Amino acid sequence: MSITPTDQEHEVTSVDIIVSKGDEKGDITYANPIFFKLAGYTQAELLEQPHSIIRHPDMPKIIFKYLWDNLKAGKDVKAFVKNLCKDGGFYWVFAHVRVATNPDGSFRNYVSTRKGMSAHARTIIEPLYKQLRTAEDEGGMDASLPLLEAFLKEQGGSLDTFNDTMQKIQNS
Ligand SMILES: Cc1cc2nc3c(=O)[nH]c(=O)nc-3n(C[C@H](O)[C@H](O)[C@H](O)COP(=O)(O)O)c2cc1C
Repeated sequence: MSITPTDQEHEVTSVDIIVSKGDEKGDITYANPIFFKLAGYTQAELLEQPHSIIRHPDMPKIIFKYLWDNLKAGKDVKAFVKNLCKDGGFYWVFAHVRVATNPDGSFRNYVSTRKGMSAHARTIIEPLYKQLRTAEDEGGMDASLPLLEAFLKEQGGSLDTFNDTMQKIQNS
């Protein structure tokens, strides 16, 4: 199913907490009602589907590479994400993705908790992601990685402190 993105924004209110869980591949195993409502799908349409069903073409690949590299290493990730709705619209969130384990330490699932993005963060992240996407159109992630690193350095951080930098931007 191919969706044509539009500039219709769906509002995430300050009280919304959007939750979903995924298996090892990132397929959706659970989501709360607001997740389905915002994306514009029924539960039946999304359960067992990959999270990439709501991937927006404006999202840089390098952000998802960072997400998966860290999740696979057992680390949390905090990142801004623009998601695509079934009607072509979009919504922005600040996501915190964690790896949940069973009492015996084995993998249980991935859990993403998302809140609305702060207005100030939007003014920083939207142009950054545009720049990263443009670079990826030309030269893939080899081209966007140095730009992301330069941005993090400008913010006083590095890839190692990505989450802290994103949290700081969200709070700004
Ligand atoms: C728990 C969890 C939640 C995720 N939530 C989203 C999301 O809201 N939007 C999104 O585009 N990708 C999300 N992803 C990442 C997707 O699995 C996928 O990597 C991404 O959409 C990029 O798609 P691609 O890897 O096919 O390019 C999530 C992954 C996990 C494990």
